[in-house]
Amino acid sequence: MSYLETTKDVYKKAAENPDVGLCCTTTPIWQLPELDIPNIMLEMNYGCGSTVNPRDLVNSPKILYVGVGGGMELLQFAYFSRQKGGVVGIDVVDEMLTASKNNFKEAEEKNDWFKSDFVELKKGDALSLPVENESIDVAAQNCLFNIFTKEDLQLALKEMYRVLKPHGRLVLSDPTCETEMPENLKADEKLRALCLSGALSLDEYIKMITDAGFGTVEIRAKRPYRILSPNHYDTDKNIFIESVEVCAIKDPVLPDGPCVFTGKTAVYYGDEAFYDDNAGHTLMQQMPLAICDKTAKALESLNREDIYISESTFFYDGGGCC
Ligand SMILES: C[S@@+](CC[C@H](N)C(=O)[O-])C[C@H]1O[C@@H](n2cnc3c(N)ncnc32)[C@H](O)[C@@H]1O
Repeated sequence: MSYLETTKDVYKKAAENPDVGLCCTTTPIWQLPELDIPNIMLEMNYGCGSTVNPRDLVNSPKILYVGVGGGMELLQFAYFSRQKGGVVGIDVVDEMLTASKNNFKEAEEKNDWFKSDFVELKKGDALSLPVENESIDVAAQNCLFNIFTKEDLQLALKEMYRVLKPHGRLVLSDPTCETEMPENLKADEKLRALCLSGALSLDEYIKMITDAGFGTVEIRAKRPYRILSPNHYDTDKNIFIESVEVCAIKDPVLPDGPCVFTGKTAVYYGDEAFYDDNAGHTLMQQMPLAICDKTAKALESLNREDIYISESTFFYDGGGCC
């Protein structure tokens, strides 16, 4: 069996019998007025973060969600879009599509504002999306892409890029790992399918995204996720896994490279406003300015004593320069 088939098998079972804690996250579940999430959706929350952010959801966007799970995040997206077919959900596992369809019926009974036809479910593969070019404003995937090998991840990102409109957004949540994952764990199809051994380092993950053509990347959150320890896994040392929330925007890549915001801020404390001729940024006295890593590096290279550049906070969702 290939790892993709093993993955389908894992999620067929997880659709038939909810597996609470299959993926687990410290990200709080959205509590919103008049949103009542059915318990079964909470039990089938197989994500490792959140991909729902109201800032992405202005002007009735067309939303695509790949890898539907129990449907919780699609319901949350539909909360903001509230239109027939406003959210398209795609999954390769028939049993997951059936389970989420039933869950949406239950959600309809619990939420006056929600209609099942706000979500259009389609069978399809993340590696070959049944979606037209440039038809989507916001695309999301939660805890699916980490399962893919690098070659397949490249394909999946290319597909997301293809279906997004210019300046559209791809929101992702996945585990990342700064320790090189041992080959035996990487090759373990079941562990990979359970989102435990396919994790890349954050830098590699971002590079895959920018190599796919996304010109702006925001790291919105980074949280501790799991420890693969020798007493439970075939490893001789602890492997620390984090989970990240990332938004990739289909902006053009600038000639000097993509803008990756990891949560750095510049604070200028000189006497008069400072204009950076090279990058065209103006730093006002004592006005914090969120900057991408490229700008941070350029400002640091000036060696000025009146510009403070913060460390990455890995908490950024807009408002910066570039
Ligand atoms: C880890 S679960 C995440 C589910 C959901 N995103 C959530 O946060 O609860 C992975 C999901 O991707 C689906 N899936 C697995 N392989 C896929 C593929 N190649 N294309 C599309 N969906 C896939 C599974 O059926 C499952 O619904």
